[in-house]
Amino acid sequence: MGVKIHELQGPKGIPFLGVVFQLDLPRIHQQIEQWADVYGDVYRLDLVNTNQMVVTRPSLINAIANERPHAFKRAGKLDQVIREGGVHGVFNAEGEDWKRYRAIVTKGLDVRHQQEFYPDLAEKVKILYEKWKKDADHDRIIDIQQDLLRFTVDITTLLAFGYDIDTMRQEGGVIQDHLEIIFPTLFKRINMPISWYKLYRSKNDKAFERAIAEMNKIIDVFIDEARKKLEQEPTRKEHPHNLLESVLVAAEEEGKFSIEEIRGNLMTLLMAGEDTTAHTLTWMILLLLAEPKAVDHIRSEADQVLGDDIYCAQYSDNQKLKYAEAAANESLRFKPVAPILLHEAIDDIVLEGFFIQKGQKVMTQYRHGALLDRYFTEAKTFKPERWLKGSECPVHNTDAFTPFGAGPRYCPGRNLALLEIRAVISMLYKNFEVELAPGERVEEVMAFTMMASSLKVRLKNRVK
Ligand code: HEM
Repeated sequence: MGVKIHELQGPKGIPFLGVVFQLDLPRIHQQIEQWADVYGDVYRLDLVNTNQMVVTRPSLINAIANERPHAFKRAGKLDQVIREGGVHGVFNAEGEDWKRYRAIVTKGLDVRHQQEFYPDLAEKVKILYEKWKKDADHDRIIDIQQDLLRFTVDITTLLAFGYDIDTMRQEGGVIQDHLEIIFPTLFKRINMPISWYKLYRSKNDKAFERAIAEMNKIIDVFIDEARKKLEQEPTRKEHPHNLLESVLVAAEEEGKFSIEEIRGNLMTLLMAGEDTTAHTLTWMILLLLAEPKAVDHIRSEADQVLGDDIYCAQYSDNQKLKYAEAAANESLRFKPVAPILLHEAIDDIVLEGFFIQKGQKVMTQYRHGALLDRYFTEAKTFKPERWLKGSECPVHNTDAFTPFGAGPRYCPGRNLALLEIRAVISMLYKNFEVELAPGERVEEVMAFTMMASSLKVRLKNRVK
């Protein structure tokens, strides 16, 4: 039958509660890695009257991912908590709902839409450049993570709703403020062994409910406006300008999407697209502070591709920024912003000799494997070159690199994220030098995504 969950080793806990009191949620991804060093790449974590199978072995992570959606669903608590927050979209849906949502979201994020959208994206990169230029001219210390969060919320809102919220040029971006309450609360609830918030609503829980309600109102306004535009300009139905229009057209044609579903999927895209990309960029900038040679490569590539331009205005040029992309991959290997995925077996299944019973919770964490020499040559060294054609790294097992997930539920926003990353990174290093602010210490904090505690830097105009 295969190895059963109770036969697996794992950290010792106390009766009934297991290791619950040992868990340090903001650093749970690191604890998972430390335990993998001791108990191996498949082990057991005892939690309140239940247990999790923890998998850091790349082949098994991929096998589980590939058996979705029929054999594994996203773990129960995640779906429950997101639904309680009033969101039902492609990330937490299962079965037939997931198929319908996935089709429409994938379409909205496809290459054709990205090409059409690229001028808007480039315009946002220009606004970011103008801000950073002023910061450099005034020798200011800035929290670059906050700038990047505003940049990605502007991009995602434009792509999803066709609405220019322009948080980069306005103080206190409303959507950003709401998401800053929504994300950490969701993460906290997902990881709560007991759902205390159902018995007692704290100040934070009330703020969370208000943030969700406000977000719903904002999205309803977007939906109303988009409906009007589609009525006024029926040609838009042939070529929807943004994701919201695509969903509305599909909903009209197939009569399949309720207002809650449309809202849920748009909210999902905002949640999935914003923090992930901004935090990946933040980590990349931090890692590059210690990698002057890689920065030189990024610069010379940007000089070559962009010529005299300060940012990459053409989609086709963006595709040429291969070294910048390689550096992004390498950053994601060290600092994956979504390192942990939670699954639940829908039925009994045997994979790689492990018997996984129906209802079994499985936690996959891929960074542990991504930093082992077994899977990547000199795995602990930052080497963007390993991702380039003709690389001289003999060991390069891409099964051990799944920052965007794997299988049918693989991240549909990957290409958009890389498009944004190449555009920002080439602009940043073409025009500026980056220095860490004095006394700044950056730590990994797990709060739905794995983010940097902050990243304060000083930008200087590049001397050519
Ligand atoms: C660097 C940036 C990003 C990273 C690292 C990332 C990572 C991930 C990961 C790990 C998953 C889970 C995949 C799985 O279960 O196998 C995921 C799912 C998803 N991502 Fe991303 N993501 C990023 C950017 C984006 C963007 C820009 C969007 C869209 C605007 C997006 C939309 C989604 C959606 C809709 C899902 C759910 C897919 C499904 O369940 O079928 N992501 N992402």
